[in-house]
Amino acid sequence: MVKVGIIGGSGIYDPSMFDHVKEQKVRTPFGTPGDSFIVGSMNGIEAVFLSRHGRGHKYSPTDLNYRANIYGMKKLGVTHIISVSAVGSLKESLKPLDIVIPDQVYDRTTKRVSTYFEGGIVAHISFADPFCRKLSDILYETAKEKYRVHNGGTYLCMEGPQFSTKAESRIYRKLGFDVIGMTALPEAKLAREAEICFAILATITDYDVWYEEPVSIGQVIEYAAKNEEAVKDILRRAVGRIEDTDCPCRHALEGAIATSPDAIPEK
Ligand code: ADE
Repeated sequence: MVKVGIIGGSGIYDPSMFDHVKEQKVRTPFGTPGDSFIVGSMNGIEAVFLSRHGRGHKYSPTDLNYRANIYGMKKLGVTHIISVSAVGSLKESLKPLDIVIPDQVYDRTTKRVSTYFEGGIVAHISFADPFCRKLSDILYETAKEKYRVHNGGTYLCMEGPQFSTKAESRIYRKLGFDVIGMTALPEAKLAREAEICFAILATITDYDVWYEEPVSIGQVIEYAAKNEEAVKDILRRAVGRIEDTDCPCRHALEGAIATSPDAIPEK
């Protein structure tokens, strides 16, 4: 059975696209998730919503309890997560209000716990393709019917909370990255460890600091809000297209736990 988790980002706090809503607090071994989960259905599909920064934007990207957020989704039976994220553009052709479905991520975070495996349990999952191909394709195909959307691209995930300097932004552009944000990681890594299909629906809010006026949080919130109806529309239509078929994401841990006897080849 498909159950879709939506993680809402800056400017996307409102679960009004959900039907039959109830709020559910979830306890996890990793502490408290950023907010209560909103449990209901969307377009007839069971769905769960979490506001990543907490309603009222209480947590900075560094301080988010990513492990509790993803664990909570897993505990509620979520099979697919669509992570909505506001990003800055590092290319002129990727314009504010465009949508991007990234297919790669580059990690520039420094302060986040990015695994569930610790205390003597060692796991090395594959993360070569960090986002679920099938789920990303559904988001792209759905968005394309009505909006300007880019299929693929590399999301540079920075630590923040300060925005980049012009020197950093210039280097990121030279290296060919496409968009920049602060939350894709470790969300995507933890979702893979939890064997949940995970894809990002990124909405461009600004040109970072390399073009015209440098980005401000006011601009990010304003442009994320401008895209809110488009995001809800894409989500509503996309969830109905997710099929209950097998996917490599759902087997990420097979052979990945180095401390498990299965991981040691027999002589
Ligand atoms: N989120 C939205 N715009 C951003 C930017 N320019 N840098 C980092 N995170 C962002």
